[in-house]
Amino acid sequence: MSAADLISPFARGPHLLGFPTPDRRLRIGIVGGGRISKVQTLAMRLSDRWDVIAGAFSSDLETSRKAGKTWHISPDRTYATYREMAEKEAKRSDGIEAVAIATPNHTHYDVARVFIDAGIDVFCEKPLTTTLEDALLLRKCVHQSGLVFMVAHAYSGHAMVRQAKAMIAAGEIGRIRQIHVEYVQEWMMHDAITNFKHVQWRQNPEQAGQTACTADIGTHAHHLACFVTGLEMTSLRAELLVCGPPKELDDTVYVSARYEGDVPGLLWASQVAIGDFVGLRMRIYGEKGSLKWDQENPEQILFSRMGRHAEVVRRGFGAGNNPNAERLTRAPSGNVEGWLEAWANLFTEFEIAVAARRAGQTLPVGLLQYPTIDDGVRGMKFIDAVVQSHTAGGIWVNCGPEDGQ
Ligand code: NAI
Repeated sequence: MSAADLISPFARGPHLLGFPTPDRRLRIGIVGGGRISKVQTLAMRLSDRWDVIAGAFSSDLETSRKAGKTWHISPDRTYATYREMAEKEAKRSDGIEAVAIATPNHTHYDVARVFIDAGIDVFCEKPLTTTLEDALLLRKCVHQSGLVFMVAHAYSGHAMVRQAKAMIAAGEIGRIRQIHVEYVQEWMMHDAITNFKHVQWRQNPEQAGQTACTADIGTHAHHLACFVTGLEMTSLRAELLVCGPPKELDDTVYVSARYEGDVPGLLWASQVAIGDFVGLRMRIYGEKGSLKWDQENPEQILFSRMGRHAEVVRRGFGAGNNPNAERLTRAPSGNVEGWLEAWANLFTEFEIAVAARRAGQTLPVGLLQYPTIDDGVRGMKFIDAVVQSHTAGGIWVNCGPEDGQ
C-alpha cells in the first residue's frame, strides 16, 4: 500500500466507492406507507441512486392519497391499489423501474407476484412470505423472470458486517467452531403496545405468519449468522416463548443450531428484553480467533487472537479494511455512520443490480453481496423449522439445503 492509499478519498478529491457511477437515478415506487417504508424512502434518497416517484401507500385510497402528498409523490402517481400501480406504471415510458414492498407479511407474496409479472425488479421486506410453500413458489417465479429480487436484511449493509464476512472468508479466525447471534429489543413490553396497528398485525397469525418475534427479528439474526460465516444453518431445535404480557404469538425464541460442518451455535431473539433496543449482536469463534460485532456500536469489530491483545477494526478509508467494506463507506472515520447508511448501501447495490440487468451487463463476481430471494427462502425455512421443532417438543429439525428444497 502506498502513502497515497492511506489518505482518505475525501482528502484526495471526489470519493471513489469502487461502484459504477450511474448516468441517472432510476425510478422506484413504494408499496406500503408505514414505519419501515419511510426509512426505506429516506435510504433510497440517501443513496442518491433512486427517484421515488410512485406509491400505493395503503389499502385505503384516501389514506394512500394523504400519504402520497406528505411523501412528495404527485397525485397521478399515487395509486389506490398496488395492482393499479403495477399495471399503469408498466405501460408508461417513464414508469417505475423497481418497486419496494413494505407491507404486512401476508401481502408480500401477492404484491411481489404482481410486480414480477409486470417485469419490474423487486426490493421486498422480510419475512419473504408467511409460508415456506409460498416462498418456494416465489423463488421459482423470480428465477424464471430473471429479475433482480432483493430481501431487506438491512443489517448486512453495514460496512463492518462486510468486513467481518471478508475476514472470516480470508481465514483470519480459522475454522469456525461456534456461532452465537442474538437480536433483543424491549418495545413489546409496553402495556399499551397492542393498541398500535403495526403490533396488531404482528400478533395475528393470518397476517404475520406462524410466528411473531421469530419472523420479525429472529430472521435478521439468522441471516446475519449465515451471511457473515458463509455457512448454512442445517438443523435446529427451538422453543417459542411468551416472556412478556400475554399474547397470541411468540415474543421470544431460543434456538440451538447446527451449521454446515456440524458447527454448533445459539440464536436468541426477544422483543421483551428491557434495556435492549436494537440489540443485534454476533460472536463468531474460530480455531485461531474470534470476531464480535454489535449493531448498536456498528463502526467497529473486536478481533481477538489467542495470546495477543485484542484489536479494534474500525470503519474508514485507508484503515486496512477489505474493499467490500470500504466500498460501502461514505464518511471518513470519526464521522459516524449507522443504520440509515446500511439501508442506503442496500439501495446502492439494488440500483447497480437493476441498472446492470436492464443494460444486459454482467457485473464482476463478488462486487455485490446483497441478500437475495435465496436468503428470503432460507429465512422461511428457519421459521418453519422453529415451529416444527417447538410443536414437537423441541426435537431437532432440518432447515438446510440438503432437505431437498
Ligand atoms: P406498518 O404496519 O407500520 O406498515 C404497513 C403499511 O402497509 C401501512 O402503511 C399499511 O397501510 C400498508 N398496507 C397494508 N396493506 C396494504 C396494501 N394492500 N397496499 C398498500 N399498502 C398496504 O408495518 P412495518 O413495521 O412498516 O412493517 C412492514 C413490513 O416491513 C413487515 O413485513 C415487517 O416485517 C418489515 N420490517 C422490516 C424491517 C427491517 O429491518 N428490514 C423493520 C421493520 C419492519
